[in-house]
Amino acid sequence: MPESPKDIKNKEISRRTFLTTVTVALGAVGAGLSAVPFIEAMSPTKDILASGRLEVDISSLKDGELKTVIWRKQPVFILRRTPQMIEAAAGVDPSALADPASPADRVFRPDLFVCIGICTHLGCIPKFMPDRVPDTDQPGFYCPCHGGKYDTLGRRLAGPPPENLHLVPYKFETENKLLIGTEKFPGYGADVRKIDNLPKV
Ligand code: FES
Repeated sequence: MPESPKDIKNKEISRRTFLTTVTVALGAVGAGLSAVPFIEAMSPTKDILASGRLEVDISSLKDGELKTVIWRKQPVFILRRTPQMIEAAAGVDPSALADPASPADRVFRPDLFVCIGICTHLGCIPKFMPDRVPDTDQPGFYCPCHGGKYDTLGRRLAGPPPENLHLVPYKFETENKLLIGTEKFPGYGADVRKIDNLPKV
């Protein structure tokens, strides 16, 4: 017996429902699988985790690139500074800054800057400006909330931030591996603006 128009319509609806279900199911499996390597990559060893520290591999970080990791629920910026960035910041007179600091006060190694990625004004996350922070001659960080400006050493250049971006305790385990944080670091309240004043990791 030939199919009625109603039968044909019902078949079409159940075929579409089947295809939608399969697509959604496959999408969920794919998302789950793709998340696995990411979660594994973020998993620190047990002793590191227990000590509240974070191990970061920076071997793939290119010149002029910024990597952001989360440590104790805060963004930590890791910037691989180019020779041009290093030179530009070296041209800033520390005594002219609101929060005076020399390059040596801010980094262990000129090519790598590490700090808490939170503006010292009201806590926004500044944007990385690899070429130039607006209305300055420096690359660095720009906080669009109220116009806070920092160089590639996180030194406050202009705007409402009262002080430089805060540093975080870290050490080089190898040339390309960082260990960030200490068990006892009290965070805000400690002197977090000069690298020599940070607790040793
Ligand atoms: S929060 Fe960054 S300038 Fe206000």
